[in-house]
Amino acid sequence: MKKVLVTSALPYANGKVHLGHLAGAYLPADIYVRWRRLKGDDVLFICGSDEHGVPITLTALKRGCTPQEVVDEFHKANGEAFAAADVKFDIWGRTSSPEHHAVTREFFTRLLNAGHIDRREIQQYYSEKSKMFLPDRYIVGTCPKCGYAEARGDQCDNCGGTYEVAELAGPRCALPGDDSTPVLKPSLHWFLKLDDFQKRLEEFLAAHGEGTPDQWRLNALRGAQGWLKAGLRARCITRDTTWGVRIPLDDPATEGKRLYVWFDAPIGYVTFTQQLFTQRGSPEAWREYWQNPDCPIIHFIGKDNIPFHCITFPAMLAGVNDTPVPGQSAYRLPTAVVANEFLNFGGEKGSKSKGNAVEIGAFVEKYGAEALRYYITAIAPEDADSNFTWEDFAHRYNGELADILGNFVHRVLTFTVNKLGRRVPEPGELGPHQAFVGETATALSTTAALLDGFQFRNALATVLNCARAGNVYFDTNAPWKSLKTDTAECNRVLYACLGRVAAIGLLLRPFLLRSSAAILQNFGVTEPFAPGSAGLRPEDIVKPGLLLGKPEVLFKKLEPKDLPSGQ
Ligand code: MF3
Ligand code: ZN
Repeated sequence: MKKVLVTSALPYANGKVHLGHLAGAYLPADIYVRWRRLKGDDVLFICGSDEHGVPITLTALKRGCTPQEVVDEFHKANGEAFAAADVKFDIWGRTSSPEHHAVTREFFTRLLNAGHIDRREIQQYYSEKSKMFLPDRYIVGTCPKCGYAEARGDQCDNCGGTYEVAELAGPRCALPGDDSTPVLKPSLHWFLKLDDFQKRLEEFLAAHGEGTPDQWRLNALRGAQGWLKAGLRARCITRDTTWGVRIPLDDPATEGKRLYVWFDAPIGYVTFTQQLFTQRGSPEAWREYWQNPDCPIIHFIGKDNIPFHCITFPAMLAGVNDTPVPGQSAYRLPTAVVANEFLNFGGEKGSKSKGNAVEIGAFVEKYGAEALRYYITAIAPEDADSNFTWEDFAHRYNGELADILGNFVHRVLTFTVNKLGRRVPEPGELGPHQAFVGETATALSTTAALLDGFQFRNALATVLNCARAGNVYFDTNAPWKSLKTDTAECNRVLYACLGRVAAIGLLLRPFLLRSSAAILQNFGVTEPFAPGSAGLRPEDIVKPGLLLGKPEVLFKKLEPKDLPSGQ
């Protein structure tokens, strides 16, 4: 079996994941994983919580609790939200775990030993009142770009601009009970010399450039090319905080400092894979995925994560390989970085402070995982930002899922049950109806190719079109008429329609698990699907004479009262 490693960006355990997160990094990955498993591949799906970072310490300060309490809460809540959406990871790890700290320290040490990390003196804001150095997030001031007076140290909530903290006008502390004016003081920090990797990353990226067989999506490619063009520079990988992974050095300057969250987080993919195999009782087997040139590594992320997955993390892996361990193979670099644009809410970026984003758990409770997975895939922001609105959701749910897909499946099955004694009819020679059967086969292969190419939105649209054309075919051929005048013709039409219903059931497997199971069950096909069953065809399951089960309504229409008021 071919091994494949799939990761989804580790969400911060500093808030609840919402539909925007789901659309960016989790649902497409889950669909892809399910698809490759159907194809018979040995796929690992790795994710977990990103539990460090200064924003988490700010949440804790505001709440008057510890950072650990904050991350415990959101690790649990987010794990439950993904489960509700039928997004199923092989492991849901945590970067606050001792195992992860150990792996991160090993990465740091190997990079240091290879000469890729050095210590530098920088000017850092310091509060005389609180007697501490202040990370950027602990400073507010006036935005150098738009003049907004409450801008955060590294980014403005008003205009979205980013800048260096030293550019803020009138800086003040943002600590509860301390709004003193900070002063700049020299402070020692550690830097990853990204410039060491300029040439190697240029070569790496060229292998995924336009026109190559392994070409990346353009957003990731352009982002990474932009960084390389500007020239890579050393990046500070430590912060003034006590929440994070310790700097593994016997140096008094490490006091009160930790590794930067963006240094340790992607290493979480490695740690969690190790933990998974330790749980499975073969603690060395993780290497068959991470240190195996034949195992593709595919990262699913939102576009804001592009630099870290396309530049920084590959550089870290390449740098670690510069201190080879006898008997161990080198880490391989990612095969694909599937970056998505943003899903907005009512035209605006979803944000915790605005409270405009829709939470996953609440949505599923009301409308179910099928509605969620359908709508989010139908508007997937694969090549441009897209927009969630309740109106559009209701419109597509009723107009597409209920009226087109559900209706086609239901009318074909009920006709067979009520008029043909539940039996799949004997088609005989299909004659002109062969064309419709041929189109069903084409839809299967088209969808497969789209899934292989990470085009989930178009793949799902192909399934919907299959049902749409099915309805037209059913109406045009009016089997309720031929039933009375020409039974052989009626049998041919129903046989062709049942094949299409089965194909829809097969095609929906990676997208809508419950609906596909409900459809296939009518034909006596039940889970689990054997690996390799991606190749199942309607003719394999729609056998003349087969007795069908009793169909159920797949999607009950939504009424205005089912939607949030005012929509
Ligand atoms: N927590 C980050 C975010 O939500 C993503 C981290 S991805 C990882 O933007 F690779 F660093 F883990
Ligand atoms: Zn601004």
